[in-house]
Amino acid sequence: MPEPFHIGLLGHGTVGAAFAQLLAERAEHVEAITGLRPQLAGVLTRSRGDFEEILAASDLVVELIGGLAPTRDYVLRAIRAGRHVVTANKQLLSQHGEELWGAAREHGVQLRFEASVAGVVPVIRVLQESLAAAHVDRLHGIVNGTTNYILSEMARTGCAYDVALADAQRLGYAEADPTDDVNGRDAAAKMAILARLAFDTPVHLDQVTYEGIERITADDMEYARELGLGLKLIGTAERIDGRLAVRVHPAFLYSGHPLANVHGPFNAVTVESAAITEITMSGPGAGGPQTASAVLGDVVSAMIPPARTPQTTQALEVITDVESAFYLHLEVADRPGVLAQVAQILGLQGASIKSVVQKGLGEKARLVMVVHPLLESRFFAAVELIASLDFLRSRPRAIRVIEEEFV
Ligand SMILES: NC(=O)c1ccc[n+]([C@@H]2O[C@H](COP(=O)([O-])OP(=O)(O)OC[C@H]3O[C@@H](n4cnc5c(N)ncnc54)[C@H](OP(=O)(O)O)[C@@H]3O)[C@@H](O)[C@H]2O)c1
Repeated sequence: MPEPFHIGLLGHGTVGAAFAQLLAERAEHVEAITGLRPQLAGVLTRSRGDFEEILAASDLVVELIGGLAPTRDYVLRAIRAGRHVVTANKQLLSQHGEELWGAAREHGVQLRFEASVAGVVPVIRVLQESLAAAHVDRLHGIVNGTTNYILSEMARTGCAYDVALADAQRLGYAEADPTDDVNGRDAAAKMAILARLAFDTPVHLDQVTYEGIERITADDMEYARELGLGLKLIGTAERIDGRLAVRVHPAFLYSGHPLANVHGPFNAVTVESAAITEITMSGPGAGGPQTASAVLGDVVSAMIPPARTPQTTQALEVITDVESAFYLHLEVADRPGVLAQVAQILGLQGASIKSVVQKGLGEKARLVMVVHPLLESRFFAAVELIASLDFLRSRPRAIRVIEEEFV
Protein backbone atom coordinates (compact mmCIF):
# COMPACT_ATOMS: atom_id res chain seq x y z
CA MET A 1 0.00 0.00 0.00
CA PRO A 2 1.37 3.50 -0.85
CA GLU A 3 1.93 5.78 2.11
CA PRO A 4 -0.72 8.45 2.72
CA PHE A 5 0.12 12.15 2.23
CA HIS A 6 -2.05 14.33 4.47
CA ILE A 7 -3.34 17.70 3.26
CA GLY A 8 -4.83 20.26 5.65
CA LEU A 9 -7.32 22.52 3.82
CA LEU A 10 -7.89 26.05 5.17
CA GLY A 11 -10.99 27.54 3.52
CA HIS A 12 -13.85 25.76 1.76
CA GLY A 13 -15.35 28.49 -0.43
CA THR A 14 -15.29 28.84 -4.22
CA VAL A 15 -11.73 27.53 -4.62
CA GLY A 16 -11.46 25.42 -1.45
CA ALA A 17 -14.57 23.35 -2.25
CA ALA A 18 -13.45 22.93 -5.87
CA PHE A 19 -10.00 21.81 -4.63
CA ALA A 20 -11.51 19.19 -2.27
CA GLN A 21 -13.61 17.81 -5.12
CA LEU A 22 -10.69 17.78 -7.60
CA LEU A 23 -8.42 16.08 -5.05
CA ALA A 24 -10.98 13.30 -4.59
CA GLU A 25 -11.35 12.88 -8.36
CA ARG A 26 -7.60 12.92 -9.11
CA ALA A 27 -6.23 11.07 -6.06
CA GLU A 28 -5.34 7.91 -8.01
CA HIS A 29 -3.58 9.93 -10.69
CA VAL A 30 -1.59 11.88 -8.08
CA GLU A 31 -0.66 8.58 -6.45
CA ALA A 32 0.60 7.23 -9.79
CA ILE A 33 2.85 10.28 -10.23
CA THR A 34 4.15 10.66 -6.71
CA GLY A 35 3.92 7.21 -5.15
CA LEU A 36 1.99 8.76 -2.24
CA ARG A 37 -1.76 8.67 -1.68
CA PRO A 38 -3.11 12.20 -1.03
CA GLN A 39 -5.97 12.61 1.42
CA LEU A 40 -7.57 15.47 3.32
CA ALA A 41 -6.43 15.70 6.94
CA GLY A 42 -9.13 18.21 7.84
CA VAL A 43 -10.98 21.31 6.64
CA LEU A 44 -11.08 24.68 8.38
CA THR A 45 -13.82 27.28 7.84
CA ARG A 46 -15.30 29.90 10.16
CA SER A 47 -17.72 27.31 11.52
CA ARG A 48 -15.81 24.03 11.45
CA GLY A 49 -12.38 22.55 12.13
CA ASP A 50 -9.55 23.43 14.51
CA PHE A 51 -6.33 24.87 13.07
CA GLU A 52 -3.96 23.21 15.56
CA GLU A 53 -5.52 19.78 15.08
CA ILE A 54 -5.44 20.09 11.29
CA LEU A 55 -1.82 21.29 11.34
CA ALA A 56 -0.73 18.40 13.55
CA ALA A 57 -2.36 15.90 11.17
CA SER A 58 -0.98 17.42 7.92
CA ASP A 59 2.12 16.96 5.76
CA LEU A 60 1.14 20.01 3.71
CA VAL A 61 -1.28 22.91 4.28
CA VAL A 62 -3.38 24.49 1.50
CA GLU A 63 -4.47 28.06 2.37
CA LEU A 64 -7.61 29.14 0.49
CA ILE A 65 -9.14 31.58 2.99
CA GLY A 66 -7.77 34.79 1.42
CA GLY A 67 -6.86 38.16 2.98
CA LEU A 68 -4.14 38.93 5.54
CA ALA A 69 -5.63 37.76 8.84
CA PRO A 70 -5.69 35.11 10.15
CA THR A 71 -3.94 33.73 7.05
CA ARG A 72 -0.50 35.27 7.70
CA ASP A 73 -0.45 33.72 11.15
CA TYR A 74 -1.67 30.31 9.89
CA VAL A 75 0.85 30.20 7.04
CA LEU A 76 3.74 31.20 9.33
CA ARG A 77 2.74 28.63 11.92
CA ALA A 78 2.51 25.90 9.27
CA ILE A 79 5.96 26.80 7.87
CA ARG A 80 7.53 26.93 11.35
CA ALA A 81 6.04 23.51 12.06
CA GLY A 82 7.93 22.21 8.97
CA ARG A 83 4.91 21.89 6.65
CA HIS A 84 4.90 22.76 2.95
CA VAL A 85 2.27 25.42 2.14
CA VAL A 86 0.32 26.05 -1.07
CA THR A 87 -1.68 29.28 -1.36
CA ALA A 88 -3.67 31.28 -3.93
CA ASN A 89 -3.49 34.46 -1.84
CA LYS A 90 -2.08 37.44 -3.80
CA GLN A 91 -2.87 39.97 -1.07
CA LEU A 92 -0.83 38.01 1.48
CA LEU A 93 2.19 37.47 -0.80
CA SER A 94 2.28 41.02 -2.17
CA GLN A 95 2.37 42.40 1.39
CA HIS A 96 4.09 39.74 3.50
CA GLY A 97 5.88 37.67 0.85
CA GLU A 98 9.41 38.42 2.03
CA GLU A 99 8.63 37.35 5.59
CA LEU A 100 6.91 34.15 4.42
CA TRP A 101 9.52 33.18 1.81
CA GLY A 102 12.25 33.90 4.37
CA ALA A 103 10.55 31.61 6.88
CA ALA A 104 10.14 28.88 4.23
CA ARG A 105 13.87 29.07 3.41
CA GLU A 106 14.79 28.99 7.08
CA HIS A 107 12.64 25.94 7.79
CA GLY A 108 13.47 24.10 4.55
CA VAL A 109 9.87 23.84 3.31
CA GLN A 110 8.15 24.85 0.09
CA LEU A 111 5.76 27.80 -0.22
CA ARG A 112 4.02 27.51 -3.60
CA PHE A 113 1.63 30.07 -5.07
CA GLU A 114 0.89 29.39 -8.76
CA ALA A 115 -2.83 30.17 -8.33
CA SER A 116 -2.15 33.62 -6.83
CA VAL A 117 -1.59 35.17 -10.30
CA ALA A 118 -3.55 34.48 -13.49
CA GLY A 119 -5.39 31.42 -12.11
CA VAL A 120 -4.49 28.32 -14.04
CA VAL A 121 -2.02 30.06 -16.43
CA PRO A 122 1.38 28.73 -15.26
CA VAL A 123 3.18 32.09 -15.10
CA ILE A 124 4.80 31.59 -11.69
CA ARG A 125 6.30 28.25 -12.66
CA VAL A 126 7.59 29.66 -15.96
CA LEU A 127 9.26 32.64 -14.26
CA GLN A 128 10.70 30.57 -11.40
CA GLU A 129 11.81 27.56 -13.39
CA SER A 130 11.75 27.78 -17.21
CA LEU A 131 13.02 31.38 -17.30
CA ALA A 132 15.07 31.19 -14.11
CA ALA A 133 18.24 32.16 -15.97
CA ALA A 134 16.69 34.64 -18.42
CA HIS A 135 17.49 38.34 -18.10
CA VAL A 136 13.92 39.65 -18.20
CA ASP A 137 13.55 43.20 -19.49
CA ARG A 138 9.82 43.63 -19.22
CA LEU A 139 6.52 41.96 -18.31
CA HIS A 140 3.10 43.04 -19.45
CA GLY A 141 0.02 41.40 -17.96
CA ILE A 142 -3.73 41.35 -18.21
CA VAL A 143 -4.08 39.87 -14.73
CA ASN A 144 -7.62 40.86 -13.76
CA GLY A 145 -10.43 39.05 -15.56
CA THR A 146 -13.21 41.30 -14.25
CA THR A 147 -11.79 44.47 -15.79
CA ASN A 148 -10.82 42.69 -19.00
CA TYR A 149 -14.40 41.46 -19.35
CA ILE A 150 -15.80 44.98 -18.75
CA LEU A 151 -13.45 46.63 -21.26
CA SER A 152 -14.08 43.87 -23.83
CA GLU A 153 -17.85 44.39 -23.50
CA MET A 154 -17.55 48.18 -23.78
CA ALA A 155 -15.49 47.75 -26.96
CA ARG A 156 -17.78 45.08 -28.42
CA THR A 157 -21.16 46.69 -27.74
CA GLY A 158 -20.35 50.39 -27.27
CA CYS A 159 -22.09 50.28 -23.86
CA ALA A 160 -21.23 52.47 -20.86
CA TYR A 161 -18.91 51.32 -18.02
CA ASP A 162 -21.80 50.90 -15.52
CA VAL A 163 -23.75 48.69 -17.92
CA ALA A 164 -20.73 46.42 -18.56
CA LEU A 165 -20.00 46.20 -14.81
CA ALA A 166 -23.61 45.19 -14.04
CA ASP A 167 -23.34 42.55 -16.78
CA ALA A 168 -20.08 41.21 -15.29
CA GLN A 169 -21.75 40.93 -11.86
CA ARG A 170 -24.76 39.13 -13.33
CA LEU A 171 -22.48 36.58 -15.06
CA GLY A 172 -20.33 36.03 -11.94
CA TYR A 173 -17.19 37.65 -13.42
CA ALA A 174 -17.34 40.45 -10.81
CA GLU A 175 -17.88 40.30 -7.04
CA ALA A 176 -20.80 42.10 -5.38
CA ASP A 177 -18.11 44.55 -4.18
CA PRO A 178 -15.82 44.93 -7.21
CA THR A 179 -13.76 47.84 -5.77
CA ASP A 180 -10.32 46.15 -5.73
CA ASP A 181 -10.82 44.81 -9.24
CA VAL A 182 -11.97 48.00 -10.97
CA ASN A 183 -9.57 50.35 -9.15
CA GLY A 184 -6.54 48.26 -10.18
CA ARG A 185 -5.44 47.12 -6.69
CA ASP A 186 -6.02 43.41 -7.35
CA ALA A 187 -3.91 43.61 -10.52
CA ALA A 188 -1.26 45.64 -8.63
CA ALA A 189 -0.89 42.85 -6.04
CA LYS A 190 -0.40 40.30 -8.83
CA MET A 191 2.14 42.50 -10.63
CA ALA A 192 4.11 42.90 -7.37
CA ILE A 193 4.41 39.09 -7.21
CA LEU A 194 5.37 38.71 -10.88
CA ALA A 195 7.92 41.56 -10.66
CA ARG A 196 9.41 40.01 -7.53
CA LEU A 197 10.08 36.78 -9.41
CA ALA A 198 11.12 38.20 -12.79
CA PHE A 199 13.58 40.73 -11.38
CA ASP A 200 14.75 38.96 -8.17
CA THR A 201 13.84 42.12 -6.27
CA PRO A 202 11.48 42.40 -3.29
CA VAL A 203 8.42 44.41 -4.40
CA HIS A 204 5.69 45.40 -1.93
CA LEU A 205 2.16 46.23 -3.08
CA ASP A 206 2.74 49.80 -1.79
CA GLN A 207 5.50 50.26 -4.41
CA VAL A 208 3.14 49.56 -7.30
CA THR A 209 1.33 52.60 -8.69
CA TYR A 210 -2.13 51.76 -9.92
CA GLU A 211 -5.06 53.37 -11.66
CA GLY A 212 -8.40 51.69 -12.48
CA ILE A 213 -10.95 51.70 -15.27
CA GLU A 214 -13.80 53.53 -13.50
CA ARG A 215 -13.45 56.71 -15.55
CA ILE A 216 -13.21 55.08 -19.01
CA THR A 217 -16.05 56.23 -21.26
CA ALA A 218 -17.70 54.68 -24.32
CA ASP A 219 -16.51 57.78 -26.13
CA ASP A 220 -12.84 56.92 -25.47
CA MET A 221 -13.39 53.45 -26.90
CA GLU A 222 -14.95 54.86 -30.05
CA TYR A 223 -12.19 57.37 -30.73
CA ALA A 224 -9.54 54.78 -29.99
CA ARG A 225 -11.01 52.49 -32.62
CA GLU A 226 -10.53 55.23 -35.19
CA LEU A 227 -6.89 55.52 -34.16
CA GLY A 228 -6.48 51.73 -34.49
CA LEU A 229 -6.22 51.15 -30.73
CA GLY A 230 -7.85 48.76 -28.22
CA LEU A 231 -8.06 49.41 -24.47
CA LYS A 232 -6.90 47.01 -21.71
CA LEU A 233 -6.03 47.27 -18.01
CA ILE A 234 -2.32 46.52 -18.28
CA GLY A 235 0.19 45.67 -15.57
CA THR A 236 3.78 46.49 -16.45
CA ALA A 237 7.04 45.64 -14.69
CA GLU A 238 10.17 46.80 -16.46
CA ARG A 239 13.87 47.34 -16.03
CA ILE A 240 14.75 50.99 -16.76
CA ASP A 241 18.40 52.06 -16.53
CA GLY A 242 19.15 49.45 -13.87
CA ARG A 243 16.06 50.29 -11.85
CA LEU A 244 12.58 48.73 -11.71
CA ALA A 245 9.14 50.27 -12.36
CA VAL A 246 5.92 48.36 -11.60
CA ARG A 247 2.53 49.84 -12.42
CA VAL A 248 -1.06 49.11 -13.45
CA HIS A 249 -3.20 51.40 -15.57
CA PRO A 250 -5.57 51.37 -18.53
CA ALA A 251 -3.51 51.42 -21.73
CA PHE A 252 -4.21 51.43 -25.42
CA LEU A 253 -2.59 48.74 -27.53
CA TYR A 254 -2.13 48.55 -31.28
CA SER A 255 -3.66 45.42 -32.79
CA GLY A 256 -0.30 43.63 -33.28
CA HIS A 257 0.48 43.51 -29.55
CA PRO A 258 0.11 39.96 -28.13
CA LEU A 259 -2.27 41.21 -25.43
CA ALA A 260 -4.55 43.10 -27.84
CA ASN A 261 -6.60 40.00 -28.62
CA VAL A 262 -7.07 38.75 -25.05
CA HIS A 263 -10.80 39.23 -24.54
CA GLY A 264 -13.45 38.56 -21.89
CA PRO A 265 -12.42 37.20 -18.47
CA PHE A 266 -9.15 35.71 -19.79
CA ASN A 267 -5.73 36.62 -18.36
CA ALA A 268 -2.40 36.78 -20.21
CA VAL A 269 1.20 37.62 -19.40
CA THR A 270 3.91 38.60 -21.88
CA VAL A 271 7.57 38.24 -20.93
CA GLU A 272 10.22 40.11 -22.92
CA SER A 273 13.93 39.36 -22.81
CA ALA A 274 16.65 39.80 -25.41
CA ALA A 275 17.42 36.06 -25.35
CA ILE A 276 13.84 34.84 -25.83
CA THR A 277 12.34 37.86 -27.69
CA GLU A 278 8.81 37.56 -26.34
CA ILE A 279 6.56 34.82 -24.98
CA THR A 280 2.92 35.10 -24.05
CA MET A 281 0.91 32.80 -21.81
CA SER A 282 -2.87 33.08 -21.61
CA GLY A 283 -5.91 31.29 -20.23
CA PRO A 284 -8.67 31.48 -17.61
CA GLY A 285 -7.60 33.82 -14.80
CA ALA A 286 -10.14 32.74 -12.16
CA GLY A 287 -13.01 30.40 -11.35
CA GLY A 288 -13.20 27.67 -8.70
CA PRO A 289 -12.27 24.57 -10.77
CA GLN A 290 -9.63 26.40 -12.80
CA THR A 291 -7.91 27.89 -9.74
CA ALA A 292 -8.20 24.57 -7.88
CA SER A 293 -6.39 22.88 -10.76
CA ALA A 294 -3.41 25.25 -10.30
CA VAL A 295 -3.48 24.58 -6.54
CA LEU A 296 -3.44 20.80 -7.08
CA GLY A 297 -0.53 21.21 -9.52
CA ASP A 298 1.41 22.95 -6.74
CA VAL A 299 0.50 20.20 -4.26
CA VAL A 300 1.80 17.52 -6.64
CA SER A 301 5.03 19.51 -7.18
CA ALA A 302 5.51 19.88 -3.42
CA MET A 303 5.06 16.12 -3.04
CA ILE A 304 8.02 15.56 -5.40
CA PRO A 305 11.26 17.61 -5.34
CA PRO A 306 12.04 20.95 -3.71
CA ALA A 307 11.23 24.21 -5.51
CA ARG A 308 13.11 27.47 -5.49
CA THR A 309 11.97 30.13 -3.05
CA PRO A 310 12.42 33.67 -4.40
CA GLN A 311 15.96 35.02 -4.04
CA THR A 312 17.25 38.59 -3.95
CA THR A 313 20.23 38.63 -6.29
CA GLN A 314 19.76 42.01 -7.96
CA ALA A 315 17.67 44.22 -5.64
CA LEU A 316 16.90 46.89 -8.24
CA GLU A 317 15.75 50.29 -7.07
CA VAL A 318 11.98 50.61 -7.63
CA ILE A 319 10.95 53.83 -9.42
CA THR A 320 7.63 55.38 -10.48
CA ASP A 321 8.30 58.13 -13.08
CA VAL A 322 8.74 56.43 -16.47
CA GLU A 323 8.31 57.25 -20.17
CA SER A 324 4.95 56.50 -21.79
CA ALA A 325 3.08 57.35 -24.95
CA PHE A 326 -0.38 58.83 -24.32
CA TYR A 327 -3.82 59.16 -25.84
CA LEU A 328 -5.21 62.60 -24.99
CA HIS A 329 -8.92 63.39 -25.36
CA LEU A 330 -9.95 67.06 -25.21
CA GLU A 331 -13.47 68.48 -25.40
CA VAL A 332 -12.82 71.93 -26.83
CA ALA A 333 -14.59 75.06 -28.01
CA ASP A 334 -15.04 75.07 -31.78
CA ARG A 335 -12.67 77.87 -32.79
CA PRO A 336 -9.44 78.36 -34.74
CA GLY A 337 -5.99 78.01 -33.13
CA VAL A 338 -6.98 75.40 -30.54
CA LEU A 339 -4.74 72.62 -31.88
CA ALA A 340 -1.81 75.03 -32.23
CA GLN A 341 -2.02 76.10 -28.57
CA VAL A 342 -2.30 72.51 -27.34
CA ALA A 343 0.66 71.46 -29.52
CA GLN A 344 2.72 74.38 -28.20
CA ILE A 345 2.14 73.43 -24.54
CA LEU A 346 2.95 69.79 -25.26
CA GLY A 347 6.05 70.88 -27.19
CA LEU A 348 7.34 72.93 -24.26
CA GLN A 349 7.33 69.73 -22.16
CA GLY A 350 9.08 67.81 -24.93
CA ALA A 351 5.96 65.99 -26.15
CA SER A 352 5.32 65.54 -29.86
CA ILE A 353 2.06 64.47 -31.45
CA LYS A 354 2.03 61.18 -33.35
CA SER A 355 -1.55 61.24 -34.69
CA VAL A 356 -4.59 63.42 -34.23
CA VAL A 357 -8.34 63.24 -34.92
CA GLN A 358 -10.46 66.39 -34.91
CA LYS A 359 -14.20 65.76 -34.81
CA GLY A 360 -17.56 67.35 -34.20
CA LEU A 361 -18.78 70.90 -34.35
CA GLY A 362 -19.91 73.40 -31.71
CA GLU A 363 -20.75 71.72 -28.41
CA LYS A 364 -19.48 68.37 -29.72
CA ALA A 365 -16.01 69.50 -30.88
CA ARG A 366 -13.27 67.07 -29.84
CA LEU A 367 -9.53 66.89 -30.32
CA VAL A 368 -8.12 63.39 -29.79
CA MET A 369 -4.45 62.62 -30.24
CA VAL A 370 -1.68 60.13 -29.55
CA VAL A 371 1.53 61.64 -28.15
CA HIS A 372 4.97 60.03 -28.57
CA PRO A 373 6.63 58.65 -25.37
CA LEU A 374 7.89 61.13 -22.77
CA LEU A 375 8.38 61.12 -18.99
CA GLU A 376 4.96 60.83 -17.36
CA SER A 377 5.69 63.72 -14.96
CA ARG A 378 6.32 66.03 -17.96
CA PHE A 379 3.21 64.86 -19.78
CA PHE A 380 1.00 65.43 -16.73
CA ALA A 381 2.55 68.87 -16.22
CA ALA A 382 1.46 69.71 -19.80
CA VAL A 383 -2.02 68.27 -19.15
CA GLU A 384 -2.43 70.56 -16.11
CA LEU A 385 -1.59 73.59 -18.26
CA ILE A 386 -3.95 72.43 -21.02
CA ALA A 387 -6.71 71.91 -18.42
CA SER A 388 -6.49 75.59 -17.47
CA LEU A 389 -7.05 76.86 -21.06
CA ASP A 390 -10.34 78.72 -21.48
CA PHE A 391 -11.42 76.73 -24.55
CA LEU A 392 -11.48 73.40 -22.67
CA ARG A 393 -15.07 72.31 -21.94
CA SER A 394 -14.15 69.50 -19.49
CA ARG A 395 -11.09 67.90 -17.82
CA PRO A 396 -8.68 66.37 -20.37
CA ARG A 397 -8.69 62.55 -20.41
CA ALA A 398 -5.32 60.87 -20.73
CA ILE A 399 -4.68 57.14 -21.16
CA ARG A 400 -1.32 55.48 -21.78
CA VAL A 401 -0.55 53.79 -25.11
CA ILE A 402 1.72 50.76 -25.45
CA GLU A 403 3.37 51.10 -28.85
CA GLU A 404 5.11 47.76 -29.44
CA GLU A 405 3.33 45.33 -31.74
CA PHE A 406 5.73 42.34 -32.10
CA VAL A 407 4.64 41.64 -35.68
N1 LIG B 1 -12.44 32.73 -6.60
C1 LIG B 1 -11.51 32.71 -7.56
O1 LIG B 1 -11.82 32.56 -8.75
C2 LIG B 1 -10.04 32.89 -7.21
C3 LIG B 1 -9.08 32.91 -8.23
C4 LIG B 1 -7.73 33.02 -7.91
C5 LIG B 1 -7.36 33.13 -6.59
N2 LIG B 1 -8.31 33.14 -5.62
C6 LIG B 1 -7.86 33.24 -4.24
O2 LIG B 1 -8.23 32.06 -3.54
C7 LIG B 1 -8.48 32.36 -2.15
C8 LIG B 1 -9.88 31.87 -1.78
O3 LIG B 1 -10.84 32.54 -2.58
P1 LIG B 1 -12.37 32.06 -2.66
O4 LIG B 1 -12.96 32.79 -3.81
O5 LIG B 1 -12.46 30.58 -2.61
O6 LIG B 1 -12.95 32.68 -1.29
P2 LIG B 1 -14.35 32.38 -0.59
O7 LIG B 1 -15.30 31.72 -1.55
O8 LIG B 1 -14.77 33.64 0.07
O9 LIG B 1 -13.99 31.29 0.52
C9 LIG B 1 -13.25 31.61 1.67
C10 LIG B 1 -13.26 30.44 2.64
O10 LIG B 1 -12.43 30.79 3.74
C11 LIG B 1 -13.17 30.61 4.95
N3 LIG B 1 -12.79 31.63 5.93
C12 LIG B 1 -12.93 32.97 5.86
N4 LIG B 1 -12.44 33.56 6.97
C13 LIG B 1 -11.99 32.56 7.77
C14 LIG B 1 -11.39 32.50 9.05
N5 LIG B 1 -11.16 33.61 9.73
N6 LIG B 1 -11.05 31.29 9.55
C15 LIG B 1 -11.31 30.15 8.86
N7 LIG B 1 -11.87 30.14 7.64
C16 LIG B 1 -12.21 31.33 7.10
C17 LIG B 1 -14.62 30.77 4.57
O11 LIG B 1 -15.36 30.12 5.57
P3 LIG B 1 -16.95 30.01 5.56
O12 LIG B 1 -17.22 28.90 4.59
O13 LIG B 1 -17.28 29.64 6.97
O14 LIG B 1 -17.47 31.34 5.13
C18 LIG B 1 -14.65 30.10 3.21
O15 LIG B 1 -14.79 28.70 3.33
C19 LIG B 1 -8.28 33.89 -2.03
O16 LIG B 1 -6.96 34.15 -1.62
C20 LIG B 1 -8.49 34.38 -3.44
O17 LIG B 1 -7.82 35.62 -3.70
C21 LIG B 1 -9.64 33.01 -5.88
